[in-house]
Order: sequence, then C-alpha cells, then structure tokens
Amino acid sequence: MDMVLLSLAIILMVITALLIIYFIFFEIYAVRTQSSTVSSSILVQRQIAHRVKALIQNHSQGIGTAAKIADLGAGTGGLAITVAQLCPQAQILAVELSPFPYFIGRCRIFLQRLKNIIFRRADLYTLDLRDLDVIISYLPQNHMIRLVEKLNREPASKPQTWISHYFFLPESVREADEVITLGRWYQRNIYIYRLP
Ligand SMILES: C[S@@+](CC[C@H](N)C(=O)[O-])C[C@H]1O[C@@H](n2cnc3c(N)ncnc32)[C@H](O)[C@@H]1O
Repeated sequence: MDMVLLSLAIILMVITALLIIYFIFFEIYAVRTQSSTVSSSILVQRQIAHRVKALIQNHSQGIGTAAKIADLGAGTGGLAITVAQLCPQAQILAVELSPFPYFIGRCRIFLQRLKNIIFRRADLYTLDLRDLDVIISYLPQNHMIRLVEKLNREPASKPQTWISHYFFLPESVREADEVITLGRWYQRNIYIYRLP
C-alpha cells in the first residue's frame, strides 16, 4: 500500500513539475502577447494546408503556386511547416514573438531542412504585410480586430486571403466570406476573409 501511495505521489510530482516547466517556457510570455501558444491540432494543420494548396492552385483566385503565405503567430511552427511541405513552391513566413516557441520552430525547420520557410522572431504588428497573398492565423478575437485594423490601414495593392482558425471577427466589424467546418467528428471552423 505504501509503495502504491509513494508511486502516486511521484507521478503527481512529475506531472506538476512538467506543468510548471511548460508554463514558464511557453505561457509566461502569453501575458505580454495576450494569446496562448497552444498549437492547432495536426488534423487541423493538415486540413488548413490542403485549403491553402487548393486556394493557390485555383487560377480563378489569381494567386499562383509561388504565393507568399504567412502564419502570423506561428507558435512552434507546426501549421507553417505543414503548409510549407504541401506547397513547396510557395514562400512561407512564420512569425512568432514568444522566444521559446520561436526557438523550437527554428530547430524544427533546421532539422527538416525546409528551404521555403523563414521563421522570424517579431511582433506581427510591426511587419509590412502588403506583400502577402495568404495570411493564416490562430489568434484570439482581440488580435483579429487589431490585425484587421492594420490591414485596412495598410492595404495591399493585390487581393489577399486571410484564413483564421477557430476565431472570427465580430459581425459588426466584418462577416466572414466563407466559413468551413473542418473534420467530421472533430468540428472546428475556419473563417475565410477576402481582402479588401
Ligand atoms: C494559438 S498560437 C497559434 C500557433 C500556430 N499558428 C498554430 O495554429 O498552430 C498563437 C501564437 O501567436 C503568438 N503571438 C501573439 N501575439 C503575437 C504578436 N504580436 N506577434 C507575433 N506573435 C504573436 C503567440 O505567442 C502564440 O504562439
């Protein structure tokens, strides 16, 4: 009985330690960014990447496979990497402000030897986004409002498509042009905005 209790105590201590480490490295910066660093699931990453591929291959959209695509708030880079792998001719920019997820993302790109993706540590609001064809984000609504204000203030000279995973703009600001439900059992929406 004592051994069982001791084992349980050790397991609890290990879980607590792992949670503390996770919090220190991943979420402490969330106080500054006002956004969690939680990644999209692998299933969602694949489905979004397929949507992006279909979008840039659809000639009527006028984008083309050599599109410039950015994941704004890329976390540890999973979504951006999946898009880069599926769209080898596109140029992917992954932007992340939080240092630890950024470091992991850089390591992943290095280890996978991906040539069509750049991982930048930057505040997305300081970047010039006018050159982008496709913007991907998984950012909470407060960020989406700030981002749409920036995109309106600094309009691109070409059409842009913004794909937002899970979060959407308040309808009073702008309605999505398309809402797609991903997965059959694991339902997650993506919201598509065609800019301007
Ligand atoms: C929910 S995660 C999404 C990660 C990834 N895009 C995905 O879908 O798996 C949002 C990320 O945005 C980052 N972020 C928030 N504000 C940012 C800013 N101003 N500039 C750059 N990154 C930011 C956060 O640090 C966090 O890692």
